[in-house]
Amino acid sequence: MRVLIVGGGAREHAIAWKLSRAAAVDEIYAAPGNPGMAGVAEVVGIAADAIVELAEFAASLKIDLTVVGPELPLVLGLADEFARRGLPVVGPSKAGAELEGSKVFTKELCLRCGIPTARGVVARDRREAERAVASLGVPVVFKADGLAAGKGVMVCHTRDEVDAALTRFFEERAFGAAGERVVVEECLRGDEVSFMVLTDGSAVVPLATARDYKRLLDGDAGPNTGGMGAVSPSSLPAEVAAAILRDIVQPTLAELAREGRSYRGVLYAGVMVTADGPKLLEFNCRFGDPETQAVLPRLDGDLMPLLQATARGELAGTRASWKREATACVVLASQGYPGSPRRGEPILGVAEALALPGVLVFQAGTALAEGRLVTAGGRVLSVVGQGATMADAVAAAYAGVERIHFDGMQYRRDIGKGVG
Ligand code: AMP
Ligand code: GLY
Repeated sequence: MRVLIVGGGAREHAIAWKLSRAAAVDEIYAAPGNPGMAGVAEVVGIAADAIVELAEFAASLKIDLTVVGPELPLVLGLADEFARRGLPVVGPSKAGAELEGSKVFTKELCLRCGIPTARGVVARDRREAERAVASLGVPVVFKADGLAAGKGVMVCHTRDEVDAALTRFFEERAFGAAGERVVVEECLRGDEVSFMVLTDGSAVVPLATARDYKRLLDGDAGPNTGGMGAVSPSSLPAEVAAAILRDIVQPTLAELAREGRSYRGVLYAGVMVTADGPKLLEFNCRFGDPETQAVLPRLDGDLMPLLQATARGELAGTRASWKREATACVVLASQGYPGSPRRGEPILGVAEALALPGVLVFQAGTALAEGRLVTAGGRVLSVVGQGATMADAVAAAYAGVERIHFDGMQYRRDIGKGVG
């Protein structure tokens, strides 16, 4: 069978790597892919958001299954474009992807269906936002309605931060159309967990638990990033996982189905486990990055049948089994990240890291320049360690990291420390 993977980050590299080991998979294409994926897939020069071109490519090659990594093509309607041509896709329709594409849509859905989430209101201008802050109090959280490349959320702990955020949203218009409406919500306290399921819109198969590390610096200090690391399993108790499934995931899927919004893909719930139980922070309509790099190596057996059942709407009765071993993923980022990353730095030691037992390296912001691997983005590599215990996995990951070097390389030293 032929598979197309849309995207070019470490998440997509991990998906390609896992599928490359599936018996039924003969050919893998990656658009736009990256130099690391070229080892397991044929890289195709089509951008991830060129949805019509991708559909034409998939139709011309009779691609059996397309797996979409990033949210943008889904929010733009990739799955609908493929469905019109009868091409199976892992990824929700445009109407389903609104769960990630519009924070206002999701907040209103939660309120309508009684799904536990932070108290919040939608503001269209500074005056409405001020009124919301007056009723919710500080700390408070502002979220741009639309996609903002992970930068549209501002958690404000002081009145000065609130003023700066309001100026950014309503005067500087920093988020353009994505920030025309802003969700203002209470700041929740607790442990944040990532909960991912495969779903065909009714049946769900939970993926292994994971948590990510969003802040740039050790001890969860510094700015928010796209993710500086992940571990799997997380320390999420089974009864809390069951509550997330019952109180958040299932009612959301039921409401989407009721509204005729087709959803065959991954539903990712970012959840705060509070003293009052789990509450939804956000939905993503796709695999998490970097959680996927930690989760997929733990899948026992073949990924392909799970993805096919998802795309075909035949997930009922399917289950995934997970290895007992733990994984830790350490993201190596460029100098300047999460601001403007420095590019073009030669990357050394990837082969040496890969030669170590229990170490995987997935590429993201990399490029080839005159035959040499160089940095080409903020998050450059995901180094994954596997081990019998979390401590072993962490040791393997950092042994891999030690082999790798590029100028300006930054990473957290506390991934998986103090877990399990
Ligand atoms: P998001 O872009 O929605 O993932 O939000 C980024 C981060 O902001 C989340 O991972 C949380 O750490 C934090 N966050 C979002 N909403 C809230 C909230 N209501 N209370 C506390 N933290 C939040
Ligand atoms: N790890 C957070 C995300 O994938 O959005």
